[in-house]
Amino acid sequence: MTLTNKTFIITGASAGIGQALAIKLAKQGSNLVLAARNQAALMKTADDCLKAGGQAIAVPTDVTNPEACQHLIEQGVSRFGAIAGLVNNAGISMYATFDTVTDLSLFEQIMRVNYLGAVYCTHYALPSLKASKGLLVAISSLCGKHGVPTRSGYVASKHAMQGFFDTLRIELQETGVDVLVVSPGFVATTIRDRVLGGDGTPIQASLQDESHQAMSVEDCVDQILQAMVQRRRELVMTPKGRLGLWLKLIAPAWVDWMTAKAIKSQRQASK
Ligand SMILES: NC(=O)c1ccc[n+]([C@@H]2O[C@H](COP(=O)([O-])OP(=O)(O)OC[C@H]3O[C@@H](n4cnc5c(N)ncnc54)[C@H](OP(=O)(O)O)[C@@H]3O)[C@@H](O)[C@H]2O)c1
Repeated sequence: MTLTNKTFIITGASAGIGQALAIKLAKQGSNLVLAARNQAALMKTADDCLKAGGQAIAVPTDVTNPEACQHLIEQGVSRFGAIAGLVNNAGISMYATFDTVTDLSLFEQIMRVNYLGAVYCTHYALPSLKASKGLLVAISSLCGKHGVPTRSGYVASKHAMQGFFDTLRIELQETGVDVLVVSPGFVATTIRDRVLGGDGTPIQASLQDESHQAMSVEDCVDQILQAMVQRRRELVMTPKGRLGLWLKLIAPAWVDWMTAKAIKSQRQASK
């Protein structure tokens, strides 16, 4: 797949992976349709895309609202025409063991952004993607492959995302639309600064310093871009992440034990 003069819609483009991916695509001469809630930050990403050599529009969007998702896709099509790719990247995370959760709406909030937001945007973009034989990209997580303590709602939302896009990949086989599911490990963004606690509100302080083992955003985005060009079906990041998939088949209890140990040691390191 070539990227020059192609149009990509990216949700969650005001920060982190979505922002960096937009700028990288702009450097390749792509047109970007950028979505997130924070209008000022989104405009800044659009400006950076223009400076990088691409064209870009910012469409303030809350992906939990189906009408807003429809408006986003319509704006993209009316400004640039055919959509070559939709990157469902908007996401929020949590930090609380299930037995400490006091507000169950936490689970609904995460599901609405991470899973339903992707469903809505995909629904409205599909006719244009079919016409262009385009690419659907889901930014999931290694949490879409395994259970991870303190992240039950996030893990569930990413498993839902994985199942949804795995199904679409089969349904769309005859249409020329390809589906790529991306599963990063820890990436050095500020996602953990916005993480929700057990009461459903942002904790507003990163409880864990995972930066020592996080992949850089640049590395993450380079891998995503390469997988998009190759129209791969899956991108599971890090050798540990890929090994974990195989180990889970033969020794699942051992993988659980290693995951629990890793989360415990991170908690201790951050104290
Ligand atoms: N960082 C990691 O370690 C990591 C690892 C694996 C997977 N991921 C996944 O990668 C994706 C991007 O994460 P990131 O690390 O780049 O996070 P980030 O820096 O916190 O960025 C998240 C983006 O999602 C947007 N967003 C949140 N709620 C939204 C809503 N209701 N409507 C529209 N946009 C919304 C945010 O913009 P606004 O707040 O302006 O709306 C922001 O642009 C997420 O799906 C995440 O689950 C991240």
